[in-house]
Order: sequence, then structure tokens, then C-alpha cells
Amino acid sequence: MQVVKHINELQLILNKMRMQGLTIGFVPTMGALHIGHLSLVEKAGQETGFVVVSIFVNPTQFNDQSDLSRYPRNLQKDVELLAPGHCQLVFAPEPEEIYPEPDTRQFNFGSLEQVMEGKFRPGHFNGVAQVVSRLFDIVQPDKAYFGMKDFQQLAIINEMVRRLEIPVEIVSCPIIRESDGLAMSSRNMLLNPDQRKAAVHISTTLFEAANKTNGLNVEDLCQWVVKRINENEFLNTEYFEIVNSETLLPVKNWNESGEKVGCVAVHCGKIRLIDNMKFEVRSA
Ligand code: PAF
Repeated sequence: MQVVKHINELQLILNKMRMQGLTIGFVPTMGALHIGHLSLVEKAGQETGFVVVSIFVNPTQFNDQSDLSRYPRNLQKDVELLAPGHCQLVFAPEPEEIYPEPDTRQFNFGSLEQVMEGKFRPGHFNGVAQVVSRLFDIVQPDKAYFGMKDFQQLAIINEMVRRLEIPVEIVSCPIIRESDGLAMSSRNMLLNPDQRKAAVHISTTLFEAANKTNGLNVEDLCQWVVKRINENEFLNTEYFEIVNSETLLPVKNWNESGEKVGCVAVHCGKIRLIDNMKFEVRSA
């Protein structure tokens, strides 16, 4: 496995691989890797001939500077984690390599970016679209792999690829959870032991709520989830919404058509965690 920092080195290697007829799988990350990321790499390894992982903490997607400075970084550990798996090339650029000039592009994803993360983290998805489109341009992957924990991000990226007609297949991969149910996230490593214990309350509540679609209407269930999570002294819910998985618009009635997903953002001390779960409505 090679680690490169510059676009020209990366492209020389990728051109050789393409000439050998290999397809390119790409896993964009911000580092601080965990088993969730490794599952994306494994899937990429099963489906493509050559796997590139980028490690780049993208400054343009952080609307909160303290969140950016706090974000965990450890390239050496990340490389050690990737080495035994399917990753063949790590791209770990400096910000100047990705943004030789400030990226002033403004994307418009309509209602997809006006809810949930888009509402509470203004500019976040514009920054995600800037970096992901730039990375796609540099790597030119055949397939790119994203985790469903960032459910809204996936919807935005799919929309960006559609609107910009980028020739890449987006592969969505399931959320990987700790053994107690907490969704894996790089931010989990910032939690102190008490916060870590409290954080599991988020997924436990989602699992419970997903079984209550017969007993409560949508509005009451949303209120129940917020109250239940906030009962824990370490947790403060920013939003919980049950949305249509395609439009991301709030579901008002269980009998609406389409897949329904409950999405939550919770502050655990200074750390902001997100999670989501499919809500299936069984006929009584
Ligand atoms: O999901 C992430 O880790 C980031 O948002 C991504 C897609 C790597 C862009 O910086």
C-alpha cells in the first residue's frame, strides 16, 4: 500500500492501473478511521480492482471552527489500520493541494439541504459537495463508497452526481454499530467514558421508537424520542425527524408512501453525534 500526498503522483499510479484494465474504487474519508470505514474499503475491494482511500479533513465543510480544530487526526494510525486490508493507495493531501485557490462554488440542492443537517449546519453540504466533486475530479473513480450513517450526505452526493453528470457509481453501505448499538463515528473517540456510556442511549431510543409505529402517530413519536433521549443528563437532542428517504421531507402520516427514516442529531457534551434508522410501518 502506497501513501501519496500529491495529485500528480496519485494520477500516475491510477493511470497505470487503468491501463492494466483495473476499475478504481474510491473511499473518501476524513481519517480517524474505524471499523465502519474499513467495511467500506472491504466492499470496494470486493467490487473493484484497485482501491484508493483519501484522508483529508476538509475545512470547507465545518461551519464551526472549534469542531474543525477538535476533529481527530492521526495519519500514521490510519495507515496502519488500512495496511492489512483491500486499500492499495492512500491519498493524504494538504489543503493547498485540494484548494490551490479558495473554492467559491455555490451548490444548490433545494429542499434536500434545507432540513436537518442542512438547517443546523449552514454551509456544511456546500463544503461536502466542493470537496467530493474535487476529489472525484482528481481520482476519477468508477465506484465511490459512502456510509449510510451520513444519510443526508448520501442524498446530497447522489443529487450532485446526477446534476453534474459525474460518471461514477455511488455505493451506499450500511451503518456499522458498536456491540452496544452506538453508530460508529470518528467523533466517538472524543467522548469521555461517561459520555460514551450515555451515547448508547441514542441508538437504544431509535430501536425502541422503530417498534412503536403501531402505537403512536408520527408527531407523538417524534416528541417521545426527543424526551426519551433528553432524559439522559449528558444528552441534548438538536433534532429528530422522520423523513421520506428520497425527498428528506418530514413524514406527517404513517400511511404516506415511500421509505421512512428517523434521523437524529444529539449533543453529548461538546460532541455532536448523528444516527438514523429505517422506520417500518406494519399494518395492524
Ligand atoms: O463523510 C465524510 O467523512 C466526509 O463528509 C467526506 C465525504 C469524506 C467529505 O469530506
